[in-house]
Amino acid sequence: MSELHKARERAAWLRREIEKHNRLYYEQALPEISDREYDALYRELGDLEKAHTELAAPDSPTQRVGGKPLEEFTQVAHRTPMLSLDNTYSETEVADFFRRIQKLMPGAEIELVIEPKIDGVAVNLLYEDGALRCAATRGDGETGDDVTQNVLTIRSVPRRLKHGHPRVLEARGEVYMTKDGFRKLNEERAAQGMPLFQNPRNSAAGSLKQLDPAAVAKRPLGLIFHSFGAIENGDTATHLDALELIRHSGLRTSDKIWTARTLEETLRAIHELDKIRHDFDYETDGAVIKVNSFAQREQLGFTAKSPRWAMAYKYAPEQAETTLRDITIQVGRTGVLTPVAELEPVFLAGSTIGRATLHNEEEIRRKDIRVGDTVVIEKAGEVIPAVVRVVVEKRPPGAKEFDFAGHTGGKCPACGGPVSRDPQFVAWRCENLHCPAQKTRRLEFLAARGALDIESLGGIVADKLVERGWVKEPLDLFDLTVEKLGTLNLGTDEEPRIFGEKNATKVVDAIARARKLPLSRWLFALAIPEVGETTAFELADSHPTLDAVAHSALLSDVVALDRFKEEFQKANPRAAENRDCGEEEKEKLAQIRQALKDKVAAAARRLLDAGFAQPSRKKDAGEVDVVMTVGPVVAGSVLDYFASEEGKNVLKRLHALGISPKGGSRGGKKSGGAGGVFAGKTFVLTGTLAGMTRTEAGGEIRARGGSVTGSVSRNTDFVVAGESPGSKLDQAHTLGVAVLDERQFLELLGTFNGLQGGNGLV
Ligand code: IVH
Repeated sequence: MSELHKARERAAWLRREIEKHNRLYYEQALPEISDREYDALYRELGDLEKAHTELAAPDSPTQRVGGKPLEEFTQVAHRTPMLSLDNTYSETEVADFFRRIQKLMPGAEIELVIEPKIDGVAVNLLYEDGALRCAATRGDGETGDDVTQNVLTIRSVPRRLKHGHPRVLEARGEVYMTKDGFRKLNEERAAQGMPLFQNPRNSAAGSLKQLDPAAVAKRPLGLIFHSFGAIENGDTATHLDALELIRHSGLRTSDKIWTARTLEETLRAIHELDKIRHDFDYETDGAVIKVNSFAQREQLGFTAKSPRWAMAYKYAPEQAETTLRDITIQVGRTGVLTPVAELEPVFLAGSTIGRATLHNEEEIRRKDIRVGDTVVIEKAGEVIPAVVRVVVEKRPPGAKEFDFAGHTGGKCPACGGPVSRDPQFVAWRCENLHCPAQKTRRLEFLAARGALDIESLGGIVADKLVERGWVKEPLDLFDLTVEKLGTLNLGTDEEPRIFGEKNATKVVDAIARARKLPLSRWLFALAIPEVGETTAFELADSHPTLDAVAHSALLSDVVALDRFKEEFQKANPRAAENRDCGEEEKEKLAQIRQALKDKVAAAARRLLDAGFAQPSRKKDAGEVDVVMTVGPVVAGSVLDYFASEEGKNVLKRLHALGISPKGGSRGGKKSGGAGGVFAGKTFVLTGTLAGMTRTEAGGEIRARGGSVTGSVSRNTDFVVAGESPGSKLDQAHTLGVAVLDERQFLELLGTFNGLQGGNGLV
């Protein structure tokens, strides 16, 4: 075969591969190869086309900038094209770039700007007269998808720019997913057996491609602006001027930017960025180097697809190869079994990695991970190590597919108890409530912040307490003495590591303090299914003691009310299944409905009187309807817990220990009373507040007579949304409930601080 023939075949193969990976990356947001591998394919094709000009083709992927836009979104043309940059992994090529621009502008003073290369999805936001007209993805560089609604779910993105903005501004930046948000999202997806996102960029891309903005709003996205297309009436001569203008107009730009006048300064900036970039809440995969002066940019011009005045230097991805020694199974608080990769320890991005999560059985199957394999591991979101893929060429002969069920032998690896798999979920679960591994996790939960707050009881201490049998149930903690705990061996028999009296005293003091904690904290700490911090508060507000919660008539009413309503629907004479009823039966149904209606009214009245529900603002007057403080699922779960052996034992044990946590001062009525400035106002908290915990925020609201509930309804007055808000924010938008960000919330608290009477809220 001739040289040219070989090159032609190779080029054709490379084009097919690249097109395939483009589709996987841009259209399905599920890439199969790393950026580095993709770049290598792309480069090889580019080099071949350069070496054999006869191979160049207008439809080659090297001639296009990005992927094809999806058809479902409206297409919008950018006013000025969105170009991409030349990439390199080599410092020598950065030096080449520097020399090239020096040569093109002999004798000129050149100032460079070095910025983080944000690993996200490029978007273009068009503002006219300060108003956002459109947000679009890059698409093919000329035309992109109109993703305005989706971008507007990002809370830092303003609909209107601040005073002093240019008349027309095409601001360009990257939509990213926070590293933390990415980790949480994947945890949720793993629990539900959904395919995992490979990295924060994929999940940002996947999020932006959702057609339903409400679904996008749930994703923790951010947007940082780094460049611009058209700017009209803006007084800018340099990139730094333009960034300043963007920032002043109210758009977020990178916090860290360097300037350099020499190659050495440029490389130093690149190295400095590499040291600090792991602390950013977004992923970065390199540094972008740009000429600062617009006049010089014009002089330098463009190649076919990228500017000559900028380039991207990419850091080597933080991946490492190692061998998978074994797959073990970890048991969580609720009994979920998670497979863990036991690796030959390897150093990666600042730490030695010996273990990595494999998420679930499905994930192992999808990636075909086998014990003995050489695997590529990566710090996904730079924090948690994950197995990216297997190096199949290095697979030892005879390596067998991992058989999860066979491996566990159908038993929990910690206690030997039975395991089962909910067909809806991928996760296997240990059914034994007495499983020691679950006990350890529950003990850790009891001791955690927000629960009983017993410091230094996490991890190994909890492990050893359970392992030695000193703590069989979480509440056994209260029997520990300094003398005993001080002798706890955290090491092995051969190499003991004794906890010591000083540490033991601290823990025992914290345990003693926990006895006096209020009911809300105890309700949360008991890890009752469905009871989070907010629900714990609500329950504690309307019940004086734990016994009162356990035998709550209010909770029974909530459950009954729900059942009555369901039965009422079923007894509808016009319902399909009742259509063939005779007159007599219909009469009977009408009687049943009347009886149920009375029952609903009575239960609703009791809940209203107790302040455990509020009248519904629904239009159809005449009917008694209420919005309950906690829903029937939560109420049922609480009652079930206290009716179970476990719940009953907890109550007995607390009595025996003389621990009787007390509820709020309401005595069944909403606290704060009519005098509070938030009286009658209902708040829902979602997301993370920077300045206070949700618990503290709830305390502030309650102290002013307001109430905090767990879910948004028409009766909600305000939703306070912090960082990474959840579905409650969508709900608020859907129902038209007022949303406050943290600053507005603080202002509201400040305004009503110490004010008596006079309800200023509308
Ligand atoms: S400047 C003419 N600055 O990386 C191109 N781009 O491969 C102007 N990116 O398309 C882009 N961080 O989507 C620029 N600080 C930054 C960036 C950045 C990320 C993206 C951008 C661009 C791609 C280049």
